[in-house]
Amino acid sequence: MISLEEVLVKKISKISIKNQEVACRDRHMTFRLLCKECNKNYPINTSQWKCDSCRRPLNLVTELPRADRFDQLTDKSERGLWRYKRLIPFSEDPVTLGEGNTPIVEMKSEGVFLKLEYFSPTGSFKDRGAAVSLSRAKWIGVKGIVEDSSGNAGIAAAAYAAKANIRARIYVPKDAPLPKRLIIHACGADVVECDSRKEASTRAVNELKENELYVGHTWDPFYIEGMKTAAYECFESGFVPDVVVTPVASGTLFLGLYKGFLELNEMGFLDKIPAFYAVQGEGCAPVYEAAHGPIQRIKGSSLADGIRIDDPPRKDEILKVLRKTSGDVFTVNDDEIIDALKDLYKKGIIVEPTSATVYAAFKKANDLKNKRVLIPMTGTGIKTVDKISKLFIL
Ligand SMILES: Cc1ncc(COP(=O)(O)O)c(C=O)c1O
Ligand SMILES: [Zn+2]
Repeated sequence: MISLEEVLVKKISKISIKNQEVACRDRHMTFRLLCKECNKNYPINTSQWKCDSCRRPLNLVTELPRADRFDQLTDKSERGLWRYKRLIPFSEDPVTLGEGNTPIVEMKSEGVFLKLEYFSPTGSFKDRGAAVSLSRAKWIGVKGIVEDSSGNAGIAAAAYAAKANIRARIYVPKDAPLPKRLIIHACGADVVECDSRKEASTRAVNELKENELYVGHTWDPFYIEGMKTAAYECFESGFVPDVVVTPVASGTLFLGLYKGFLELNEMGFLDKIPAFYAVQGEGCAPVYEAAHGPIQRIKGSSLADGIRIDDPPRKDEILKVLRKTSGDVFTVNDDEIIDALKDLYKKGIIVEPTSATVYAAFKKANDLKNKRVLIPMTGTGIKTVDKISKLFIL
């Protein structure tokens, strides 16, 4: 049986090494992975998901192309995420289910713009990340991928793995919503139920086998590459917000949107980067606590089940973005989530409780009034009908 390392050696001809910098030239661009902590470079075809020296997450560094207009960098024959293939690695033969190109709906009375990420193929924004992650797995040539997830990322990984004909094993907490666990299984993935979200992350890595690639979204730098396209889409549709508010667990959407707007700024298409606000559930708010000090955990939020990561690997990066953009982080409790959810449903926005956290935060944050606010609606309510049915009694 050929090992993952042998597969990587076969691909190594695509790697060019210059000035001790390990860079990989894709069709148009040069990409490399960098540990910002100790300045160590890695090629993008590495199977490592963290720095082997300091154990911190890796970041993808891209040499941005030059153009007079952003649309010169887009592929107009594509409508979704791969419209931006010039700015994304592994785009030569991508694994796609039609992700990206989600609608932006203005709620005029409140001055807020909702980006309906639940229009994605598997019903959540995770498809953007999974599309790039699984394109990478296919490019490397692995037999299987492993992911740990509260549900949505697991569904996206399972669906894109199925499309790519790659086996998937997904570690989930046993209290993840049943419909989510069922969908992962129905896509042909092995579902491993764990006692907690934390145990899911630990076991996913510890039980990795030969020829398998760990694509855990909480660490994977390529996931963020998929997420950044949501910012490009806003820009291309002529909408540049003053403020972005996202739910944050591991921060892939938060960091991805920031990276997208930052790149647009660095390429000279945008003068100003929006202020970034993060939202967490009261029961699990590590970013909030790092920014504002400990809060009393009166009771955990059982509704914000998608944002329950105690120690997100990219916490420092998230805090840096909050500071740099003069943003902030809020917490919301279950009562506020229920109110927000009921409001959203009455407006025809059918989301899951985790997605409603941002709307709950927006409603109580006075400093967000009179600004152009972007709120991604991250996941469909249809997958959490078990939870929602208890809130809307017929
Ligand atoms: C619906 C929903 N919104 C937001 C998030 C948070 O995403 P991230 O881990 O990228 O911060 C999740 C994570 O699973 C989710 O399922
Ligand atoms: Zn390092």
